[in-house]
Amino acid sequence: MMINTGKLEGKIAIVTGAASGLGKAIAHRFASEGAKVIIADLLQEAGKTVANALRDGLFLKVDVSVPSEPDALRQAMQNMNPIPGMPTPEDVASAALFLASDEARFITGVALPVDGGYTAR
Ligand SMILES: NC(=O)c1ccc[n+]([C@@H]2O[C@H](COP(=O)([O-])OP(=O)(O)OC[C@H]3O[C@@H](n4cnc5c(N)ncnc54)[C@H](O)[C@@H]3O)[C@@H](O)[C@H]2O)c1
Repeated sequence: MMINTGKLEGKIAIVTGAASGLGKAIAHRFASEGAKVIIADLLQEAGKTVANALRDGLFLKVDVSVPSEPDALRQAMQNMNPIPGMPTPEDVASAALFLASDEARFITGVALPVDGGYTAR
């Protein structure tokens, strides 16, 4: 018996080849641990069936052998944030600068997500 501990809560997983076999099993296992799972596969019908069976699944038709196609995955991840786009290293550096500055002198032990609002949804 598998115990679900929520160890992937708040995370997004892209599982390629997840319409069947190993990828499908991985998608189900990740979802049971709380991840939002993107099912990336060539097979549309089977992929949608897997995605619909998950709490928070999304199917994307992707051929991973075509170099331009994984761009669709990046686009899908960008659209999951309330603020569109992906954070840059500079966004994180700005947050670190704020926490290190005198303006944050009375702030301690706080987690400051730099995630475009993803975890606040
Ligand atoms: N090393 C080992 O011990 C071991 C054991 C089992 C399987 N495998 C290998 O792992 C792989 C997966 O096995 P499986 O049983 O899950 O196979 P499977 O055929 O059930 O699943 C493969 C999935 O990948 C998808 N896919 C194939 N080409 C793709 C592409 N270009 N872009 C996107 N999706 C694509 C298919 O549509 C399918 O849904 C196979 O290559 C298999 O040989 C290795």
